[in-house]
Amino acid sequence: MPHKKLFIPGPTEVMPEVLSAMSTPMIGHRSGEYTELQKRVTEKVQKLAFTSNPILFSASSGSGLMEGAIRCCTAKRAIVFSVGTFGNRWFEIAEGNGVPVDKEEAEWGKGTTPEIVDQYLSTGKYDCATITNSETSTGVMNQLEQYVPVFKKYPDVVWCIDAVSSFAGIKIEVDKLGVDVMVTSSQKCLALPPGLSLATFSPKAEERAKTVKNRGYYFDLLQLLKFIREKGFQYPSTMSVSHMYALDTQMDRIIKEGFDARFKRHKEMAAVVQAWAKKYWALYPEEKVASTTVSCIKNTRGINVADLNKELGKRGLTLSNGYGKLKEQTFRIAHMGDLQVKDVQELLGAVEDILKLK
Ligand SMILES: Cc1ncc(COP(=O)(O)O)c(C=O)c1O
Repeated sequence: MPHKKLFIPGPTEVMPEVLSAMSTPMIGHRSGEYTELQKRVTEKVQKLAFTSNPILFSASSGSGLMEGAIRCCTAKRAIVFSVGTFGNRWFEIAEGNGVPVDKEEAEWGKGTTPEIVDQYLSTGKYDCATITNSETSTGVMNQLEQYVPVFKKYPDVVWCIDAVSSFAGIKIEVDKLGVDVMVTSSQKCLALPPGLSLATFSPKAEERAKTVKNRGYYFDLLQLLKFIREKGFQYPSTMSVSHMYALDTQMDRIIKEGFDARFKRHKEMAAVVQAWAKKYWALYPEEKVASTTVSCIKNTRGINVADLNKELGKRGLTLSNGYGKLKEQTFRIAHMGDLQVKDVQELLGAVEDILKLK
């Protein structure tokens, strides 16, 4: 099957040199060589996350560390601020783990306001709060800076961020923002194959986790931290060593591109897609909260998205249908990872040609 260039919001295109780093001959996950590898990768990721906090890795996709975060950082009650499917997932994860939790779900297409966050936290009921940075189902991006003054007022609340579809595509200054746990997955803006996730973990989150009795096993964040501290950059079970090699190579590529250049490229791709969406369709989210990494576009022309994708496939391209209840009502174009403006233009041109858009 010929490869179709991916404009879906994960997995994203993976560069050949990153794919070939995945096939580096295996080493033992308890070897000194592995320890050096995880340490090296950690230092590079800390730079991209603008943090001096430890980086926890998991040989799972991002949902695993989302589970670890809400379970380990809630002693009293968690509040999940949702703007779509993945916010709702955090709520379901908490419920499934028996973590006391409430959910505040914004009208789809709108963001989480700092006022609503303040309103919930001021009740004193909560000691953990989650916010979705980029909601992949609705294309809503919550700008993190707006919540900083609110979280400053509630120092007992551990602030967890879902940056699964934003980290490495936009600037997230973890320490400056005061984010306690920021979770991301490998298969989005980091442009690696799926199967690895990582999280930043603040001293406040660590202290909270110490007070939580049932932290589970595989996603016990204190266990992950213990193996980093005591074994020296290792992982409690068997790490996906191949992903670590790939991330090492990819971080070198990202550093070579330059963080600011990478963030700028994402903004440029978003501007091109959003302008096109407004010309021929309409954006699903309110424009002021439209995501820099994925655009959710209203299917105002009533096309059959699946048929469009079949035609695109013949040209070696693919985009994404709407997610869940938004299927066929919307379609999504990811502009993340290592895609370039010219790639996005190629896709948009192909859609215009297939649908004879004027
Ligand atoms: C915003 C967001 N959060 C969470 C997830 C779940 O991540 P994963 O599939 O890596 O478990 C996704 C996946 O698409 C996502 O887009």
